[in-house]
Formats: sequence, C-alpha cells, structure tokens
Amino acid sequence: MENTTLRETQSMTNLQAVIARTETTTSDWKQALPVLTGSMVTLRELRISDATSLLAMLSSAEVARFISPPPTTVEGFERFIAWTHRERAAGNYACFAVVPHGMDTAVGIFQVRQLEPGFGTAEWGFALGSAFWGTGMFMDGARMVIDFAFETIQTHRLEARAAILNGRGNGALRKIGAMQEGILRKSFLRNGEYLDQALWTILDEDWKQQRVIWGARIH
Ligand SMILES: CC(C)(COP(=O)(O)OP(=O)(O)OC[C@H]1O[C@@H](n2cnc3c(N)ncnc32)[C@H](O)[C@@H]1OP(=O)(O)O)[C@@H](O)C(=O)NCCC(=O)NCCS
Repeated sequence: MENTTLRETQSMTNLQAVIARTETTTSDWKQALPVLTGSMVTLRELRISDATSLLAMLSSAEVARFISPPPTTVEGFERFIAWTHRERAAGNYACFAVVPHGMDTAVGIFQVRQLEPGFGTAEWGFALGSAFWGTGMFMDGARMVIDFAFETIQTHRLEARAAILNGRGNGALRKIGAMQEGILRKSFLRNGEYLDQALWTILDEDWKQQRVIWGARIH
C-alpha cells in the first residue's frame, strides 16, 4: 500500500515534471526561436541585417514565381522581418532564416503559421535562393522545421499549399513525405490569374513513423 502510494506520488511528480517541461518548451519559442543546427544549414531567427541578402535571394523571378509577392526593397524586407518578430512574440507564427554552414546571412526562409488558435493545425511555407536549389539544404532545413512544428509548437496537422505549376515546390513536398490530399481549385491569385493549388499535409503520427524509418536507415 505504502509502495503504491509512493509509486503514485512518484508518477505524479514525473507527470508534473513532464507538464512543466512541455509548458516551458512550448512557450519559450515565443520569446525567441531556438537555433536549429542541421548537417548543411542552421535555422535561426531572422535578423534585420538579413534584409539585403533576402531581397537578393527571394525577389528573383524564378523564386517569386509561385509565392505571394515578396517585398521589393531592403526597407520592405526590414519591415517584414520586424513583423515576423512581433507575430512570433504573439504566438501566431514562426519564421526561420536558412543560413548555410560557413555563411552568416540568410539565403531563404521557412515559415509556420497557425491556422487555428493554439496551433492545432498549422501551415508551413518555404523559399530558398535559386543558387541553393537541389543542394539538399531544403531537406535538411525542412526536417528541423517539421520537428519544431510537431515537438515544440505541438501542431498535430501541418498543411502546405503549392501551385500545381510549381514543379519543385510539389516535388519537395512529396520528397519530404507529405501526402497530397486534394486540389484547391483557383485558390491562389498570382499576377492577375487564379491558379489551382495542391494541398499537402503531414500528421504528427505520420512524422513520428517516418522518423523511426529514417532512424532505422541511419543506424
Ligand atoms: C521549394 C524549394 C524551397 C525546394 O527546394 P529545392 O532545393 O528546389 O528542392 P529539392 O531539389 O530538394 O527537391 C525538389 C524535388 O522536385 C523535383 N522536381 C524539380 N522540378 C520538378 C518538376 N517540374 N516536376 C516534378 N518534380 C520536380 C526535383 O527533382 C527534386 O526531387 P529529387 O531530389 O528527388 O530529384 C525551392 O525550389 C524554392 O525556393 N522554390 C521557390 C519558392 C517556392 O516555390 N516555394 C514553395 C511554395 S509551396
């Protein structure tokens, strides 16, 4: 009886510790995003000083073709970066800079925004300077952002939308293991034309399963 009580007390203490840990990790990102280090890139909070590099990387025609129009000036990017900090502090959104190892400034971004209060469902998006396409940096950064979404923000469903005409965007989502759920007809207005988009999703349980498979391949 005494042992049972002790065990119960112990498991309560463990439970409280888990809850406390979870609360700390889930709220910490609102103060400042964690620095995530991969094999090719580091993901970190955007800095105002990234504005020049991001303008050069993201406003080229090939990058901007299928995404919401990025700012067109350094000042515009500075305002965007300040906005990302405010939205992160409010707990609505997180935007990571992609910084290749050996470099200091951002060559792209990964964003995650809540689609409902509390981040139960979230949407992610990404863009890299075209010089970095096909290098493996997308996969390296994407794995860390998806881990962040499921483990830190505790999203359970991560959505992405990609214009059907965006071969690389759809190819990248398929490769990371997202599932195409359907087509959102004429859902994206770009250059005065409504484009169809594919809706891609990853569920927390799918991701855990995939991690086990990757883990098994690595070891
Ligand atoms: C989306 C983006 C971040 C992906 O990064 P990336 O380095 O190009 O991605 P990867 O090369 O790792 O993967 C793309 C995959 O699509 C494949 N692909 C390329 N063109 C394709 C096409 N026309 N049709 C189908 N698949 C295509 C590639 O072969 C690659 O697969 P593989 O590695 O198995 O060969 C990058 O292309 C980008 O910034 N694009 C502009 C912004 C954008 O469109 N963002 C996405 C909005 S959903």
